[in-house]
Amino acid sequence: MRFLAGFALLLLGACGGGGGDAGGGPVDGGGGAGSLPPPASAPALKTTLAARTGVNNFPVGAAIDVSATSGTVAAILQKHFSSITAENAMKPDAIWPNAAGSSTQPAAAPNFTTADQLVAFANANNLQVRGHTLLWHQTAPTWFFAGDQSNTANYRLLVQQRLCQYIDTVMRHFNGQNVYAWDVVNEVASDTPNAANPYRTASPWYQAYAVSGAGRDYVLDAFHCAGQTRAAMGRNSGNLKLMLNDYNTELPGKRANVMAIVDDVINAGEPIDGVGHQFHLELGADVAQVTAALTAVEQRGLVNHVTELDVSIYADPGECFSARTIPPCLADFGANPTQAVLSQQALLYRALFTAFTRPSVQSITTWGVADNHTWLNGFPVNRTNRPLLFDIAGNPKWAFWTIVDSSITPP
Ligand code: GLA
Repeated sequence: MRFLAGFALLLLGACGGGGGDAGGGPVDGGGGAGSLPPPASAPALKTTLAARTGVNNFPVGAAIDVSATSGTVAAILQKHFSSITAENAMKPDAIWPNAAGSSTQPAAAPNFTTADQLVAFANANNLQVRGHTLLWHQTAPTWFFAGDQSNTANYRLLVQQRLCQYIDTVMRHFNGQNVYAWDVVNEVASDTPNAANPYRTASPWYQAYAVSGAGRDYVLDAFHCAGQTRAAMGRNSGNLKLMLNDYNTELPGKRANVMAIVDDVINAGEPIDGVGHQFHLELGADVAQVTAALTAVEQRGLVNHVTELDVSIYADPGECFSARTIPPCLADFGANPTQAVLSQQALLYRALFTAFTRPSVQSITTWGVADNHTWLNGFPVNRTNRPLLFDIAGNPKWAFWTIVDSSITPP
């Protein structure tokens, strides 16, 4: 299970750095052997990846909130990125919450204010937009499921209509706003490896549909309705992708569940274009299994998006994620993790971006811009983490340099 984290927001400083050029081997950036190249010499990540993939304007994204639309973080977005994802502002509870004081009535109208601010920033800065997400069990306001369940067929129909109307309203609102994909559903797969029922049953969507008939059908309906709206807007799979997004697809047992659901959607004849792999990874992640996740999707003739990439500097054991205490989670490294850890992270990032360089991978998004703002400071425990490509001051890290320059080796 993933939880919304309490985000630690540190103050971003000005860019630092000395003189010197990026060269081979451990780099002398002017600050002594093995120091980082000067920030100003950093090539734009989006330009590097566009050249590498051969795709003009290849979407290199970051998840953002409104704090990223000004200051140092905005400057990083302008230089390095070509896409954004709303960290929270496009989730159902943000766009159409319950009416104040009610658990059964929706607010009178959807509220697009914050999402529109992000989209306006994107438009002003030539950034594309990944829509995230039309459905997620963790952010489903209860009004969707209100109603008399004793007439089971009517109840199911009611929930179904609400789902489709919601999807239609939101997709149409953002039509023409440079949105190239929607995560139609988020995290609908079971966490039980190779589950007999691959769906997440502890979801209000699954449970509402199960009142009359198969709980899993809400996934088919979501894709069906998103496909209808897409067609009605005059768009198609070439310019607006409909995606199923989930985490842990790099774990074979979870991947089996995700792919079983993808196959259900394909076999039902509903429009699905691809899989969004969150790839919330940690040190020691198995890149061969990351590649296996990508090829499983390719085998269905679908595309891959890397949607929420980050690399935790803690190689936590599996029990950490259920216990959510230290131990079994690793102790806090504090504000200044060792170079060894940052170098290991950089080499993993390099291997990941090499694995991502394949035609089926059509966008790469990190879950955040810089280490000053990451959900991993609060998940799985409160602890300093440094999972992104830019440091807390907004400067490119070793992880950035290993991606953009194959001649660079971190110390
Ligand atoms: C999941 C969701 C994201 C985000 C992260 C962490 O991965 O898909 O939208 O909420 O959890 O906060």
